[in-house]
Amino acid sequence: MRLSGKARVAGVMGWPVGHSRSPRLHGYWLREYGIDGAYVPFPVAPGTVEPALRGLAALGIRGTNVTLPHKQAVMAAVDEVEPMARRIGAVNTVVVREDGSLHGSNTDAFGFLAALEQDAPGWRADAGPAVVLGAGGAARAVVAALLDAGAPAVRLLNRTGDRAMALAADMDDARLEVGDWAARSATLGGAGLLVNTTSLGMDGQPPLDIALDDLPREAVVNDIVYVPLETPLLAAARARGNRGVDGLSMLLHQARPGFEAWFGTAPTVTEAQRADVLSDKRD
Ligand code: ATR
Repeated sequence: MRLSGKARVAGVMGWPVGHSRSPRLHGYWLREYGIDGAYVPFPVAPGTVEPALRGLAALGIRGTNVTLPHKQAVMAAVDEVEPMARRIGAVNTVVVREDGSLHGSNTDAFGFLAALEQDAPGWRADAGPAVVLGAGGAARAVVAALLDAGAPAVRLLNRTGDRAMALAADMDDARLEVGDWAARSATLGGAGLLVNTTSLGMDGQPPLDIALDDLPREAVVNDIVYVPLETPLLAAARARGNRGVDGLSMLLHQARPGFEAWFGTAPTVTEAQRADVLSDKRD
């Protein structure tokens, strides 16, 4: 697409940044909506995220996504951090405001809930307990989203129990219960949602070893791993009649708020966009 002198520009800062799917998925929306704009990868070396961010306003750039290893460092470098990002402990989206100041947010919690809304219509956070496996950055976003959305209880299990305890201490919410990783299969009784935020099931990693027998059939299973798209966990869940939500959906939906802020159009996640992102083999 031809860019005019008024083209809006945004991008993603990371190191390395070549693996990021964001240019592809934002590029798809830019073409779909015929927007005079560009979304580009910014290779930003560790320790240089602050000057990189300060340069955005000077260049007239609208904002940026932030990925590894900068998600924490960026919190100290922006002028305002929205409460959800502070709770999660990471910023993934920066918007340059009219006055040049930088606003940081985290769109992972939004993306997680929006993916469930689109791919598992009728699922409600307040309808039953959720089980969350893992205690990394993704788990923080998922737990915060579920608590905000009114989950009556969230059972958090992680191989390294101390990390789950630290996450629970940060969230400081009585509905969050830390359980024993070894007892993960038995924790599924009565749950309305199971979320895998660990790397288990990802290509090159062992599968997640869990027995789904106790999981109610009405429960939704959400795996945030997206390579492969159909993880062994999702396949097993679907085979016994549970609805499944894959990790690509969260990736696409978490991009929506940034796109709207930078380019002025609220985008929709579609099957065609999913196919386009999947056809981009860069792993
Ligand atoms: P992210 O920020 O993307 O969520 P992370 O911080 O690297 O990633 O977290 C990876 C998660 O996968 C952690 O919960 C990790 O468990 P530990 O905290 O015990 O390391 C989990 N994980 C990775 N490999 C695992 C394995 N073989 N068995 C169980 N959990 C595993």
